[in-house]
Order: sequence, then structure tokens, then C-alpha cells
Amino acid sequence: MSVLFKNGTVVTTTGRTRADVYAESGTIKAIGSRLDRKAQEVVDCKGKYILPGVIDPHTHLAMPFMGTYSQDDFETGTVAAACGGVTCLIDFDLQMKGESMAEAIERQKGIAGKACIDYAFHLAVMDPRPEVIAEVKQACRDYGTPSFKIFMVYDFRVDDGTMIRLLEETKKHGGLVQVHAENFYIIQHMNAVLAAEKKLAPYFHAVSRPNIAEEEAVYRASKMVEMTGSRIYIVHLSSREALWKIKKARDRGLEIYAETCPQYLTLDERRYEEAGWGGAKYVMSPPLRCPDSIEELWQGLRDGDVHTLGTDHCPFNFKGQKDMFGKEDYKKIPNGAPGIETMLMLLHTEGVVKGRISLERLVDVLSTTTARLFGLADKGAVAVGKDADIVVFDPKRKFTISQRKLHQNVDYTPWEGLEVTGTPEVVYSRGKRVAEWAGDQMKFVGEAGRGKFVKRVPLAAF
Ligand code: URP
Ligand code: ZN
Ligand code: ZN
Repeated sequence: MSVLFKNGTVVTTTGRTRADVYAESGTIKAIGSRLDRKAQEVVDCKGKYILPGVIDPHTHLAMPFMGTYSQDDFETGTVAAACGGVTCLIDFDLQMKGESMAEAIERQKGIAGKACIDYAFHLAVMDPRPEVIAEVKQACRDYGTPSFKIFMVYDFRVDDGTMIRLLEETKKHGGLVQVHAENFYIIQHMNAVLAAEKKLAPYFHAVSRPNIAEEEAVYRASKMVEMTGSRIYIVHLSSREALWKIKKARDRGLEIYAETCPQYLTLDERRYEEAGWGGAKYVMSPPLRCPDSIEELWQGLRDGDVHTLGTDHCPFNFKGQKDMFGKEDYKKIPNGAPGIETMLMLLHTEGVVKGRISLERLVDVLSTTTARLFGLADKGAVAVGKDADIVVFDPKRKFTISQRKLHQNVDYTPWEGLEVTGTPEVVYSRGKRVAEWAGDQMKFVGEAGRGKFVKRVPLAAF
């Protein structure tokens, strides 16, 4: 199968050029002006951007959590992803008690078979027995999973000693530890204070997890990096105070990377006051913050202190899941929200159109740096030799976000009613069309099960 993308604007991290792109057998073979190639499919890209497919490094598909499961599985979640211009995702594989890393990976592969786009796994270390920590070497070198998530909160949090051992081991083998950074004891204390005052509505979820809880945990994790000489990646960074700690540590030469999410760049804590118990839609951890944090995170993206975007796509239905146990107590509302289908259009609208980041930076944080940090050697750029994971993007098309027009398997979107500027026109996964604009919304035209498990390479080897 061959495809010729004609007359588009190819965007990389360093610039943009008018060019044609020729792909064959799933790989980009040539880029140049007026390419003289015959192809089975020709796509007119005049007036459109040719972008590398978005890589979402933070999803929770079919994940058991807080007494229920996140609603999108690998089929519905990857259909939604494709329609949003995401052509590869890295999902969290939560290790179960007693499992080895190898067993956790095999189990997760068993539920990922219907994926429509390529996928990989981060191992979430939840039972850090010595033999599991020792398996880091094989995970980095043989299993293709060189990133390891740890939580500093929740029941399955790890202690600082485990963090140190993991940092030491990943340093040896080119792995990367990802940290959900919130101080457990601050939150526990706040929960007790709020419970005594009978403050249990969704709004108090945010009160219970103040910025300082994230700031302290980020600072502590950065000290572990300093001590071990290793590196970390902070997931879903939400507050300006935590960002300041990252900046300070980076200025001192520590290898700390940060990811933020569209929700922390576009929504603020006033959402918790939405009528009709609507605040529950935004119960996620960390919580939404004040508008000042939003502008600081944009600044961090511009300056290079925030390196990637991830969605933290973890959808629970507003009716039937958010209210299953949590109607009377915010602590029992499943934490998480959907976002995989809307990330690219939101970042273009709120970032590029509003002049907060350049188009080149959008490509960097949504694809190129993500591929580099997570060892996706064949992905992340429109360049010869890379997979033909391509989004032809119409920067002018207007679209009003509405759950009715999205594909994610959940009953709401946090961005309902927001008009965006710029949407995908067509999306290709390894040279095969998987989604296209049809009338007034995206349509999925790919195939369940075509997505492949991608073996990643260690950071140091890339
Ligand atoms: O609220 C969230 N973020 N839910 C998903 C699990 C996590 O902490 O990333
Ligand atoms: Zn988390
Ligand atoms: Zn998450």
C-alpha cells in the first residue's frame, strides 16, 4: 500500500516546509517538493498541515480503579484516539500483587488485542518485591517497557525507599521512573478535617489536595534524583508551585522531565461548583487548579520546563460510575476524566491559535519529545524512515466539542460546548487510513486489532 500526501505544510520541531510526503508499506520513504511518485492513494493536503501522529503517553484503558473500571477498553479507546489524531498510546499496566513484570505485561497484552492503533505499556510498580526491582533490567532490554510508574498516593503508593531502589536500577539500564507526585499525609489530614466539618461535596476534592501536596512530593522526588543521579518524569503536573520546584531542580542540572495534561491547561477549580453535582465530572488527581497555575504551565511549555502532554484519559460515566458510591462523599468518586479525543484540537486552539505556543512546539510536546523520552524509535516525526503515522490537519475548521460527536465510551466530555479551531482531516496509522472528517465530525474507518504492541528502547540507547 502506498500513499502520496501532496502539497501540504510539513511541520517538525524546528520549522515548516511546503512538501509532498510519500509512504509505502507503512513507512515514510520520501519527502520533497513535487515528488514524482505513483501511489495507490493520493491525499490533497493544500492548506493543511502534515503532522506526526500524536503520541499519548498517559492512558488508563479498561483499568480497575476505585471499585469500578475505566470505561474505554483498548478498542473503544483507540477508536477515540484515532479520531482525535492520536496514532500511538502508552497505557499503564498495573502490576498485581504477586505478579512479575513479565506476567503483568502478558496479562495486559491479553486485553489489548483489539487496539486499532499502536500501543505500548508503562509498568506501574505496585508490588515492589526485590525480584521485581531486579526485573527492571529485562524490562528495559528485553520486554520493550523501559518506563516504570510509581504512585506516592493511593492505597498502592510506594515508600521513599522503593523509589530510591527503582531510581538506582533504572539509572543502570536506561529506564525512566514516572511519578504521580502528591503527598499522601497532607491529603489524609485534609480529608479528616473536611470530614469533621461535613464538607464532602465534589468541590472539597480540590480543597483536600492543595498545591502544596504536589509541590512537596515533586521536591522530595527531585531530591531522590539528586541523591541517585538518576532521572524522573513527573506525570500530570498541575500546579505552579510544583513547576517552580521542577525548574529549580533542572536549573541545578537534575534530569527531571514533566508532563502536563489538557485539563490543567484549560480548566480551573471553579468547575467543581458546576450545578447538579456536575463538579464530580472533574474529580481527578491532582485536581484542577487556579487560573494562575494555568498560565504558568503554558509558560513552562514554552520555556521547555514542561516536556510533553498526556491526556490521563481515565473515563468514568457521570451517571452510573461517578455517582455509584460518591454521591455523599467526594473521596468515593472514581478519580479520572476522558480526554484522548480532544487533546490535539485543544492544544491547537488554546495554544497555537491564542499565541501561547508555536506550531513547532505543539509537534514537539505532542509527538517528537514523547517518542524520544519513551524510546519509540520509529515514531514521533514526519521524517524518512519513520512510521507513516500522519495527521493531515485542517487549521481553519471550526468544531464545537460535544460528547454526541465524539467516540470515547463515556457520557460526557469536560469541554462540552467549547468551539475549537482546527481539527484532523485524515489520520493514518502506519500508512493506513484510520479516521477522516465526514460532514460535521470525525469518522473511524480503521480496523479493530490492527494496532501492534510496540517494543520500546531504553532512553540511554536512543
Ligand atoms: O485522577 C486520575 N488521574 N485518575 C487516573 C489515575 C492516576 O492517578 O493517574
Ligand atoms: Zn496519577
Ligand atoms: Zn493517570
